[in-house]
Amino acid sequence: MDGLDLMTSKTKVAVFISGRGSNMEALVRAAQATDCPFEIALVLANRPNAGGLATAAEAGIEALSIDQREFGKDREAHERAIDAALRQREIQVIALAGYMRILTPFLVDAWEGRMLNIHPSLLPKFPGLDTHARAIAAGEVEAGCTVHLVTAGVDEGPVLGQARVPVLPGDDGHALSLRVLEQEHRLYPETLAAFCRDLG
Ligand code: GRF
Repeated sequence: MDGLDLMTSKTKVAVFISGRGSNMEALVRAAQATDCPFEIALVLANRPNAGGLATAAEAGIEALSIDQREFGKDREAHERAIDAALRQREIQVIALAGYMRILTPFLVDAWEGRMLNIHPSLLPKFPGLDTHARAIAAGEVEAGCTVHLVTAGVDEGPVLGQARVPVLPGDDGHALSLRVLEQEHRLYPETLAAFCRDLG
């Protein structure tokens, strides 16, 4: 396989964000390696003020905001606009990375088996929000993060990879979140790469 073949065979990934996008940045960095099986072809946010949009644009990646407010309460209409943008760009895989909007069955079904999410807990423990504080309050000695396939139930899909960190004496939610985040930035690129290699 020559260099051109390698480039054209990369899986086209769209990363969905709502905020700072540090996981998106980790994916973008990983994609710069010649032997990385994926390319970040699009960064998409549901809010125009998502900080990560500027970061993506600076990295030379198309950064698109499809503002949920323009669709009022019609979440499916918002997702149909997103889906059209993805298909127009021939996106193959979606990586949710701090995308803070619960999806409707429309997008989940349309991308079944091709949409990943990262969640900052050792699922099935602590799905939903505020995971670090809840892990500490529950007296956990270990915390971590999970990359999983997205299914209809929030944070419920099949697990593709996990990374663990200790919960240390004196930890608050913030301290623990930083320790977990460091692992997220390693786990997500690694798991997405393995997933894309399996896609062939
Ligand atoms: C991460 O902790 C991720 O696991 C969770 O939301 C946070 C997003 O952080 N889903 P960032 O925007 O990637 O920095």
